[in-house]
Parts: sequence; structure tokens; C-alpha cells
Amino acid sequence: MLQKSLANIIILLYLFQLINCQTKFYEPRQRFGHTAAVLDDNKLYMFGGYDMTSSIEYLLGKEFFYIDFSTPFNTKELTWEDLSDYYTLPSHAFSATVKSNRNNNTLFLYGGIIESTAETLVYRYDTQSNAWSTPTITGINNIRKRDLIGIIDNNGKMYLWSGMKVINEKNTNYVNDMLILDTINLSWGQGSTIGAPTARGNYGAILLPNNNIIYMGGYNGEELTLKQVYLYDIINDNWSIKTTSGIVPSGRSGFSAVLGLDGQRIIIFGGTTTVARNNLTIEDSLYELNLINFEWRIPKISGQIPKSRMYHKANVIEKYMVVSFGFGYDPPIESDILLLDISNNNEYIWTYNFVPSYNPDPSSLPSSSIEQSSSPTQSSSPSHSVNLLSAQQSEKSSLTMIVSIVGSLFAGTILLFGCFFIYRWIKIKREQKN
Ligand SMILES: *[C@@H]1O[C@H](CO)[C@@H](O)[C@H](O)[C@H]1NC(C)=O
Ligand SMILES: *[C@@H]1O[C@H](CO)[C@@H](O)[C@H](O)[C@H]1NC(C)=O
Ligand SMILES: *[C@@H]1O[C@H](CO)[C@@H](O)[C@H](O)[C@H]1NC(C)=O
Ligand SMILES: *[C@@H]1O[C@H](CO)[C@@H](O)[C@H](O)[C@H]1NC(C)=O
Repeated sequence: MLQKSLANIIILLYLFQLINCQTKFYEPRQRFGHTAAVLDDNKLYMFGGYDMTSSIEYLLGKEFFYIDFSTPFNTKELTWEDLSDYYTLPSHAFSATVKSNRNNNTLFLYGGIIESTAETLVYRYDTQSNAWSTPTITGINNIRKRDLIGIIDNNGKMYLWSGMKVINEKNTNYVNDMLILDTINLSWGQGSTIGAPTARGNYGAILLPNNNIIYMGGYNGEELTLKQVYLYDIINDNWSIKTTSGIVPSGRSGFSAVLGLDGQRIIIFGGTTTVARNNLTIEDSLYELNLINFEWRIPKISGQIPKSRMYHKANVIEKYMVVSFGFGYDPPIESDILLLDISNNNEYIWTYNFVPSYNPDPSSLPSSSIEQSSSPTQSSSPSHSVNLLSAQQSEKSSLTMIVSIVGSLFAGTILLFGCFFIYRWIKIKREQKN
């Protein structure tokens, strides 16, 4: 009798172990005004922002997480990696973040609105040590700004134009200055504002291949037009203005902008047209600006077109414009992450499937597959290496599975023997007493 129930318990323990080694769920809260940066080649790190689900805006706490873009996945089944234990910053939102140009594992964060009266303006994070630090920066700057975009150039200079100056929570105003943080020498500098556009926040900004930063749209009491775009020449420290043509999007702020893969176009998504957080229609949310003739158009798109979003972020990872979080969508009907395949200029595709197009680390492949993939007939096919990669991944994960199953069986067996011997011992002791 006792033996039987003991066996049952052991079986239960086995099952529990099996389930246990397969569950590792972490899901962050939905947010907007957050930070999103691609580090370590292909990991999208995210943190900060306001809680989207709360009726009163409030800053999110210590959640810090990433999504790994080195393996294929579906946006309906995201795997979030939780790093919250390493988060030592105050809660914040609407700050400016860039990846260091020295290496791909360090980011710099400037400004934003911060929960406490924290005075630190710049934080640095390193994925290799998993540590945040506060670099000492020479030169004087004590201006905290929010609602701005940070742009880094090849020399490690971070450009922080305009935005909203935060004096305290009730006292803010838009400032027109060009702060420059040298992330290598760790010093503050300033750029020209002669000919700069009017001060604003939540604009779009991108570094172009010709060493100009393009600025567009934004908000300074009203949504600003995209009829004019502004170019800041980082080499010569001067500003110019371009008037655009074509199907010009309505004035907007809180949108995202990325550079097309060929460097000749800018793609913008989402945003808002009024202070009251007005969602844009699906038809009015995606535009493209040709950088040769400065003509706007609505690109041809296919796939399941998502609702528009505002105060989200967009990063380019491989051939995808990766949109994260924002305000205006309905989770879980729509994923927190959207993928727009921008590899074909004639037709962009909204998709749920992320497929890495190259193998980031060929040395990790078994030698037989390397030989295969370097054979002339197959080396030109990117899908081949994808197959290899996913095959290798699933091999890896099934190996992990097997190891953990064998491991738990082993542990279970030891436990079983342990219990059995204790039981025997008790029984013998009892018999001896009797
Ligand atoms: C990017 O960072 C990762 C981890 O720090 C490193 O293994 C990889 O070699 C880096 N890649 C490049 C191109 O520097
Ligand atoms: C950094 O400082 C060094 C020495 O002070 C100087 O030679 C170099 O030009 C500086 N770099 C930048 C990007 O300002
Ligand atoms: C910016 O400076 C460069 C070099 O001095 C000059 O060639 C260019 O015309 C200037 N652009 C504007 C818009 O002033
Ligand atoms: C915008 O989207 C949100 C979330 O889907 C919704 O609650 C809100 O009613 C929408 N507003 C408008 C003006 O469509």
C-alpha cells in the first residue's frame, strides 16, 4: 500500500520535473515612450516608458528585457528574456538612447523624465558585464530634456537636438539647442542652431549616409508639418531645409522613422495628429520619403496590416523594420512587436515571422554543414543557411530536452531509491521494535 502511493508520488515528481524544465515565461507590461536598442548584433533590449494599460500615466519600474533576433520566431509567441535583476536605474520615459559606435554591447542613455529627483543625466549599460554605470562627463551641461531622439555618428558623438526641457514635472518648455555628447572622450559640446527648425519634441530623426541628420515633424503645442524636412550637416555644423513633394503625410508627432535598406529612403510609421492621442487610420500610418528627390509616397504593402501606433519605437534588424510596443493597439489581439519586411522596395510586407537571413556565427555549425553551405551551388541561397540554422537550433533544443529529461529521470531514480531505503529502514526498525 505504502509502496504504491510512494510510486505514485515519484511519478508525479517526474511529471512536475518535465513541465518545470519547459516553462520559463516572462512577459513585460505594455508600454509607450520606452527605450529600444539593438545590442550584441541582434538582441533588442527594451526598458522604461509609461504603462499603457493604466488610465493615469505612470512610469514603469524596473522591468528590463530583450528579444533575441538570431533565431527564427513568430511574433505571436514571443520569448522575452528577463534582465530586470540587473536594472539599477530610476524608472524613466521618453529619453534618448544610442548604441555605442565603439562596440556593439554598450548603450548610452540621456535625459528623459525620471521618477525621482535623480540628477544623473547620462547612463551607460554594458551587456558583457550586465552593469549600468554613470560616466563622468567633462564640460558643463545640466539640462535635462525629454521627447527627443539621440543620434550617434561614426566618431562616437551623440547629437541631442531640441526636445522638452524638464525643470520639474510642472515646468517644462521646448528648447532649441544642439547638445553634443562625445561618448568616447566623455565630454559635452554644442552645435549650431543657426537656421535650425523651431524647437519641438517627439519628432523623427535619422542619420543619413551623407553625414546629415534629417529631422521631421514633431510637436510644440501643435503637430508639425512634414512638408518641410531639416538637415543638420554634422561635418560642417550647419543646417539646411528641404521642401518635400508627393503625398505629404499630415503633420504628426510620436511616429517612428527608419532608413531604408538601400540608404535612399526613409520609412515612417504611426504617430498622432492631435494632443488627444488620436490614432491614425491604417491608410494614413505608413509613408516613405525618397531621399533623392524628397518626394513622399505611400508604399505598396501586403500582409496583415496592423493598427497604427504612437510613441512606439522602431529599429531595423536585418531586413525588418521592428516596431515595439506603443499606444493605440489592442494586446493581445496584436503582438507587442510588429515586423515589416522592407527588403523589396516595391512591396513591403507586414509579417508575423522573423527569419534571420544569414548565419551570424558560421563557426558554430557542424563542420559537415559548413562544407555543404560553402559548395558553389548552395552558397548563394540565403534560405539554405536559414534552414541549417533552424535545423541546428532545433537539434540544440532537442538535445537540451533530452539532457533535462535524462537528468530528471536520474534525479527521480535516486530519489526513488532514497525513499525506498528510508521506507525499508523504518519498516525494519518497526519490526525490530515489535
Ligand atoms: C557584437 O557583440 C557580441 C557580444 O558582445 C560579440 O560576440 C560580437 O562579436 C560582436 N559583433 C561585432 C560585429 O562586433
Ligand atoms: C578626444 O580627445 C583627444 C585628446 O584629448 C583628441 O585628440 C580627440 O580629437 C578627441 N576626440 C574627439 C572625437 O573629440
Ligand atoms: C555648410 O558648410 C559647408 C562648408 O563650409 C558649405 O559648403 C555648405 O554650403 C554649408 N551649407 C549651408 C546650408 O550653409
Ligand atoms: C485608439 O486605439 C485605442 C486602442 O486600440 C482605443 O482604445 C481608442 O479608442 C482609439 N482611439 C481612436 C480615436 O480611434
